[in-house]
Amino acid sequence: MIVVSGIQPTGNLHLGNYLGAIRNWVKMQDEMDGDSRCMFFLADLHAISMPHDPAELKSNTLEMAAALVACGLDPARSVLFNQAQVPAHAELQWLLMGTARMGWLNRMTQWKDKAGKNREGQSVALFGYPVLQAADVLLYQATHVPVGEDQKQHLELARDIAQKFNNDFASEESPVFTLPEPFIPPKAARIMSLRDGSKKMSKSDVSEMSRIELADDADTMAQKVKKAKTDPEPLPSEIEGLAERPEALNLVTIYAALAETTPEAVLADHGGQGFGQFKPALAEKMVEVLGPIRDRFVELKEDREELDAILARGAAKAREFSTPTLDAAYKALGL
Ligand code: ADP
Ligand code: NA
Repeated sequence: MIVVSGIQPTGNLHLGNYLGAIRNWVKMQDEMDGDSRCMFFLADLHAISMPHDPAELKSNTLEMAAALVACGLDPARSVLFNQAQVPAHAELQWLLMGTARMGWLNRMTQWKDKAGKNREGQSVALFGYPVLQAADVLLYQATHVPVGEDQKQHLELARDIAQKFNNDFASEESPVFTLPEPFIPPKAARIMSLRDGSKKMSKSDVSEMSRIELADDADTMAQKVKKAKTDPEPLPSEIEGLAERPEALNLVTIYAALAETTPEAVLADHGGQGFGQFKPALAEKMVEVLGPIRDRFVELKEDREELDAILARGAAKAREFSTPTLDAAYKALGL
């Protein structure tokens, strides 16, 4: 199994990012055995398809790398790198541009959504970025690509490109590319704002009290939990009792996700408690789980030398793994 997964470099990482995404990647890595391998790349090349701030992109890339390592992604077992340091991504994208059809890209719903009515004003990169995504995974002969609903169409496109390229330029016995299979990662928790149970916890929320950040210290976490919006009722002992109580449900969901159990099990233990009792218990669980991650994250985030070294080692491995495929693609095309 070769699993390849790209991650947008974002900053101000929060509890939602950890429980909803990062922890899943770490679990994926931990399930690999034998010759299986996970490759995780920070999609910094993708970021330039939209207006962006260069300094921010750089710091977000480093911050995301620090977070992944702090959360348990092991650069010795998995390959962790950023696209920009592995020129093969951009090179293969260009080689695949000859195979991808305008019509295929025109049908991408993400392109239609992002471009809206202003197609003429978009960068060529935004239009062509699904081809870069195809290159990202085909380059490593990925067998499996974790995809959410919104990315299924792009993986389908990668398969179409690989198939047409193999058909047009390779023999049946020795195809250049493996057709990657999608796999739907285990459903992760969806964490809501601490200030409004109808909104997702997000880095873009203006209120910092709405989210627990990965960099928050224990006191800050406890303060934010204490100030979280709730209602005056005690917790019910059955999940049905939370149907109309989104803020209460969110706190129970967070507890369950941190403790790696179900909301039902949390209610079995804490049903009947008021928030004066439950919130300190939640804060304690949060500090227990996130405290060590936070310490490592804050330390690593400031250690530019160590981060550069981790990403350089990852890029060297990625270049090694990608070279045979890239060479084969050039050769197949007569280049
Ligand atoms: P934000 O909403 O803070 O801008 P991103 O869109 O950058 O977060 O998301 C990065 C990753 O974290 C995605 O995989 C996304 O699904 C996950 N994620 C973000 N917010 C949450 C949340 N509140 N609950 C669960 N997962 C989340
Ligand atoms: Na977002």
